[in-house]
Amino acid sequence: MSSAMETPPAVTVRVPAKVNLELLVGPAREDGYHALSTAFQAVSIHDDVTVDADDDWGVTVSGRDAAAVPTDETNIALRAARLLAAHAGLDEPVHVSIRKDIPVAGGMAGGSADAAATLIACDHLWGLGTPREELLELAAELGSDVPFLLHGGTAIGSGRGELLAPVLARGRFHWVFVPAKGAGLSTPAVYGEFDRLHAEAGTTPADPEPSPAMMSALRSGDATALARAFTNDLQPAALALRPDLATVLEAGLGFGALGGLVSGSGPTVAFLTAGAESAIDLAVALTASGVAHDVLRATGPVHGAHLLTAPRIS
Ligand code: C5P
Repeated sequence: MSSAMETPPAVTVRVPAKVNLELLVGPAREDGYHALSTAFQAVSIHDDVTVDADDDWGVTVSGRDAAAVPTDETNIALRAARLLAAHAGLDEPVHVSIRKDIPVAGGMAGGSADAAATLIACDHLWGLGTPREELLELAAELGSDVPFLLHGGTAIGSGRGELLAPVLARGRFHWVFVPAKGAGLSTPAVYGEFDRLHAEAGTTPADPEPSPAMMSALRSGDATALARAFTNDLQPAALALRPDLATVLEAGLGFGALGGLVSGSGPTVAFLTAGAESAIDLAVALTASGVAHDVLRATGPVHGAHLLTAPRIS
């Protein structure tokens, strides 16, 4: 029988979803990624990730859309655990258990969130105390959005999204998210459609830079100004691939949302409302009208990946 001394207790980390308040996309780079400038906000839809020492590496997934998440070696949370182990020179297999509430392939960085949570959880399980800068570098290797899910709050992302700068942001915002019916959208497919639409129109995307309207809306903390400054350069591409999203956007705005946009590469649609009550009213209107089969209410900004349980000190 193993004692607490031999087997460290499981570690659970809670991690939020993200929405891009502004997503400005430039031309494709030589490495295939697109230069971008984005304002990220972490919102209170969470996955919980638990890591446990085990004989073999493995992952199980439960909760929302669980069946759509791969549980083989391609799982990004499992890759995060293995990456940190390799970085630390360890060979200590873990089992990763993911409890999902963030929509899968929804444009809310659910997979990236699980990777960020796994880095924090394994760092604690193994007692590594990896410096923040190193964790952020490992996060960037795993995916463009992973560093932001470690960071949380509101931040400006540049490069391919992995370079973060803090931003002066006030206010607490009330969101309603409408996950799409059926399968999600593949991020590379949406970026591919973005390129195709530009090629078809004979246009070249401008080099992206944070807009003065967004920076000033963030500073003011004013929800109406923030909603007015919403921009998502991937939205036309997401709508071309999923024309049904236009109906959702139109309905939400008709029911009184301050603003709406496709979240990241979609297909989740995000609406900003004037307050907690307006968010409830909008959620009810969207479901009662049959436009949305499912709605998620959330507030933002919230903290990035954080421990729910810590290993017992023995
Ligand atoms: O970085 P991540 O693995 O999340 O990116 C997934 C895919 O999305 C990339 O392989 C690329 O096709 C596309 N992408 C992009 N430009 C970015 C971020 C992602 O083209 N800035």
